[in-house]
Amino acid sequence: MVWMARGDALELLHLGPRLHDAEDLAVLAAAAARGRHENQPDVPPTGGLLPDPRSGWRGPLLAEFSRDGLPVTPRWTGLHIETSPDLGTIAANWSDGDLETHLRISWTMGAGDVIVTHTQFTDTGFRAIGERGVVTTRCASLLLPLPRGFDKVTHFAGRWADDMRAERLPVSRASLGWASRGGKPGFAGGDWLVFDDEETGAQLGFHIAATGDHEVRIERNDDGNASLVAETPIPAPGFGGLHTPEALIGWAPDAATLTRAFHAHARERLASYAHNAPRERRVHFNTWEACAFDFDEARLMRLAEDAAALGAERFALDDGWFKGRSSDRAGLGDWVPDPVRFPNGLGPLIAYVKALGMDFGLWVEPEMVSPDSDLYRAHPDWCLHEPGLPRPTERNQLVLDFTRPEVGDHIHACIAKLLRENDIAYLKWDHNRRLFPQPPLGAHPGRLRMMWDQLRADFPHTMIESCSSGGGRIDMGLLGPIERFWPSDNNDTIERIRIMREWSRLLPLEVLGSHVGPSPNPITGRRLAMDFRAKVAVFGHMGVEADPARMTDKERECLAAHIALYKQWRGVLHAGDLHHLAHPDPNIMGMMVTHGDKALALVAQTAFSPVFDAAPVRLAGLEPEALYRVTLPAPWPPRARHYLANPDAWREGLILSGAALMGHGLALPLTHPETAWLIALEKIA
Ligand code: DGJ
Repeated sequence: MVWMARGDALELLHLGPRLHDAEDLAVLAAAAARGRHENQPDVPPTGGLLPDPRSGWRGPLLAEFSRDGLPVTPRWTGLHIETSPDLGTIAANWSDGDLETHLRISWTMGAGDVIVTHTQFTDTGFRAIGERGVVTTRCASLLLPLPRGFDKVTHFAGRWADDMRAERLPVSRASLGWASRGGKPGFAGGDWLVFDDEETGAQLGFHIAATGDHEVRIERNDDGNASLVAETPIPAPGFGGLHTPEALIGWAPDAATLTRAFHAHARERLASYAHNAPRERRVHFNTWEACAFDFDEARLMRLAEDAAALGAERFALDDGWFKGRSSDRAGLGDWVPDPVRFPNGLGPLIAYVKALGMDFGLWVEPEMVSPDSDLYRAHPDWCLHEPGLPRPTERNQLVLDFTRPEVGDHIHACIAKLLRENDIAYLKWDHNRRLFPQPPLGAHPGRLRMMWDQLRADFPHTMIESCSSGGGRIDMGLLGPIERFWPSDNNDTIERIRIMREWSRLLPLEVLGSHVGPSPNPITGRRLAMDFRAKVAVFGHMGVEADPARMTDKERECLAAHIALYKQWRGVLHAGDLHHLAHPDPNIMGMMVTHGDKALALVAQTAFSPVFDAAPVRLAGLEPEALYRVTLPAPWPPRARHYLANPDAWREGLILSGAALMGHGLALPLTHPETAWLIALEKIA
């Protein structure tokens, strides 16, 4: 990456492959310079990282300002560039002496060579009481002049239960734009983008770490240059200054390298957070799709026994445990165990779960309140509302105004009390509605972050997961206090494998919950074989979310065997390099993780194959010269196993070179839908 200062203008000269150490950057600049064309100001306009509207620039701006309610355009001068001693951070500073303001953009390159950017605006004036200076009315985390060649962009707009629907679009003269306006990233897409250069295969990943709303636009001008602008709306004028959320960009020569770069970045965030210690991703048993609201203490204890027998290591009690919560119509806000279901509190259940060798997790949705709750009856003014007007609900609930100190403090105290009084290893922190009728006046995500940081400092033993009707609130900035995401409410394996594939382009498997759901699936109604459900769930942070009592003996046996496989392989899956496997049949999806001398691959066929013999599956990420022992770990998919030639050889292991495995591939029976295989590899020479 090379920035080029020209007077007070700052250009992005290069964002791409590493240049030669002896590269003459002045010559590079000369090679990139363009003469004036017929249809532009006589002095070409200042674009770059801080475009100047005064120069005739008509593209997007990094930030806009006003004073006394009227727009004002600062004259940003005195460009001063700072670098950190390790050159990991580079920052540009400008000021406007007359308006007494200062602007700073900073780019920091860390793990995976992913660059984290943000913008900071400061009112530097000494103001008399009541006097207001310049305020920023919008301020982007990033304005990126897109390197030429990135003419296609993949975005991931979806909906509830259909998260991360990837769509690849041309970056043409028509503007592209995405926005979320519900106080959370939501399913609108745009907060994660992958640009690609068709000619070279290079990729450019982008993300805005906006726990609340975001707006992302791409505009291409008539010079042919495209800009990406990413920002979060400013909830109230930024008197005194503003520090934007982070945006991320990562350049890579190909898709696999981009994935590894984002994974390295995510892992670094997790590892560098003060209250995180490395922890094994224990197998979850979650009660939601096993019994929803239909339980009492005795049923939960039976479920816990069945979960432990399968090999689960954590029993997570989902929605329905707190006072008055027998359906989604009541109870949010009253974070005490329901006295009818738990006459002696959660203590006896937790003790039972622990005696079975598991730890205990609990669902909460602390930002919300049900109109039918003690909290609402005591404080009807604590929710977002407009005085005198009806209070619109979503999923029968209202949102608490977390920016009011007494509200945040009360909820924090309730959750801290729960954690103090009960041994809780995991909190599933849910968030199931948008923030309306009016947005909170302060920064809701900011208050939330403070709460998470404090809870993690006080209870470092407790892992927190971010869930928002599935993957409605997932961002890199959360990684640290948040260690797990719920990627989708859809546990139907055929849907889920696609969703996991897309999320895992950007986030490592260990942070992505991956559960075996019931059959038929409660959302899609689809019936799927246990072998298929279980194999696919291994590739993530594995869990079970189905009632074992409704499974056949064979299904329980099959599930337990896969849980055992997950435990055997999680050290590889959660530390290694992920590779998505290409296959000519679009209904065959594959991924594999390589780590040290070991690798595990998952190959899944979701639809009926047009041919009897699917093309061999080519593996990836291996050393061409090395020799590997390849086995197909049992259990095998019941229908497909009959088509396997030489079953004994697959059990004992075939010795093949990395070159053969990647170039020639493995012929697996993949004719029928709902067939999945795990492929284990061990390097032997
Ligand atoms: C929505 C979540 O995404 C589900 O997994 C479940 O926890 C329900 N909420 C519970 O109400």
